[in-house]
Amino acid sequence: MKIFHLSAECYPVAKVGGLADVVGALPKYQNQMGLDASVVMPFYERKFVQENEWDVVFEASSFLGARRFYFEILKEKTDKLGFPLYLVKIPGLLDRENVYSYPDETEQFIAYQIAFLDWITWSQQTPDIIHCHDHHSGLVPFLMYHARPYHRLAGIPTILTIHNGQYHGAFNWSKLSLLGDIDLSKTGLLEWNGAINPLAAAVKCCWKYTTVSPTYLEELTYQSNGMEYLFYLERNKGTGILNGIDTEVWNPKTDPMIPEKFSIRTLASGKQKDKEALCARFKLSTDRPLISFIGRLVGEKGADLLPNAIRRSILAHPGGVNFCLLGAGEVKVQEQLLALQTEFPDQCSVFIGYDEPLAHLVYAGSDFLLMPSRVEPCGLNQLYALRYGTVPMVRTTGGLRDSVIDFGDEGGYGIRFIQANAEDIIHAAGRAIGLYETTPHLQLIRKRMMALDFSWDRSAKEYINLYESLKPAI
Ligand code: ADP
Ligand code: GLC
Repeated sequence: MKIFHLSAECYPVAKVGGLADVVGALPKYQNQMGLDASVVMPFYERKFVQENEWDVVFEASSFLGARRFYFEILKEKTDKLGFPLYLVKIPGLLDRENVYSYPDETEQFIAYQIAFLDWITWSQQTPDIIHCHDHHSGLVPFLMYHARPYHRLAGIPTILTIHNGQYHGAFNWSKLSLLGDIDLSKTGLLEWNGAINPLAAAVKCCWKYTTVSPTYLEELTYQSNGMEYLFYLERNKGTGILNGIDTEVWNPKTDPMIPEKFSIRTLASGKQKDKEALCARFKLSTDRPLISFIGRLVGEKGADLLPNAIRRSILAHPGGVNFCLLGAGEVKVQEQLLALQTEFPDQCSVFIGYDEPLAHLVYAGSDFLLMPSRVEPCGLNQLYALRYGTVPMVRTTGGLRDSVIDFGDEGGYGIRFIQANAEDIIHAAGRAIGLYETTPHLQLIRKRMMALDFSWDRSAKEYINLYESLKPAI
């Protein structure tokens, strides 16, 4: 079965968040299970692209409205990622460093989708499934079924996976002509809340959509930035499939990015050494429980709650807990966190920026990982934390609710709290400190966490079942 995954991000080529991790792993696991899955993403001027060799497998020109553009499809020569990787290069549009936030982002993503569709149309390819991820490729199903140049593709099933329903990629109707020769009687399929909305168009036109956790599937019907009613209407097309993790990349036994490798058997001593390395890096002492945060410093992640919650937790437990943070995002939150570091240099340490190896060290060396998310479609951080014996402290939303059982419940291993507010975080920090003080219990919980299986094996199968269910119609 031949599958094309379309995504703006893919680890290790270009990563902003968990989307990259998922698209960098799922196709690899699918191929191990006998599928023929590839990734097609925009070209970025980045280290991985510069350091690897590429074949130009297709070149042509096409139109973005009245603007003619030239494009190339590049293929990574060695397939070393475990799947064929294709880049869509468009001089002047897709030849830049960053993934998001350019003023002509709408044009960039439309051109990416047009180039992909032109390529598979003119090279006479007939994939069994086209699997779109988030709004960046959300116009593909509409264009396949309702744009004249692509009528050859009209019978191919499309799947949309929603990693984040807060972002829709909406743009003004004045840009309709960028979509080319489409059936104008179908433009209602593009519309939501008065604009052209690629995520809504994908939900309406795809054969099936998935969310990255079962709970998030329900949450979209009351928390999706204005698309709630559409998710309610289309609910029969949706399935929730919890993400997995790439256990080859995230493995404390072999991880080249952590100083001390460890297994369940060597957990206590190995983790202590990684904690020492982490604390040395963050200039913190090792004798207190260490609660960490990794992530984008945005409202969705509850990052704005952190400065106050950490301050009050430290005051409530003087000398009793340390915090370390790795993240970047809203300037105000960054400044507040840095001020906190100045106020409590012995107990709070902050690294503003993005650093992949440092993230591995934080997962390995921390005692607890805090995720006070307001919205968390799946969340991978808690899954990485579990694999490295670090107790996740999570607000019960989305995938956090689906993957973390409270240690107070049978078979549990994490700390759950209900509200995204400072009080709940402070209370959770108190429970973390209590757990840390009962060392045998903590060790037992850590072993239980590390024995859990959140690998892609299970979830990749669920996607395959979904593909298979569309087969009779192919
Ligand atoms: P999201 O995709 O919403 O940001 P996820 O939990 O799915 O959230 O994935 C976040 C991914 O990004 C994880 O792999 C995490 O380790 C990584 N990450 C986030 N912020 C940073 C950072 N500042 N430095 C390194 N890695 C980061
Ligand atoms: C999004 C979500 C995150 C999820 C990731 C991968 O970025 O915010 O919760 O884990 O996609 O699916």
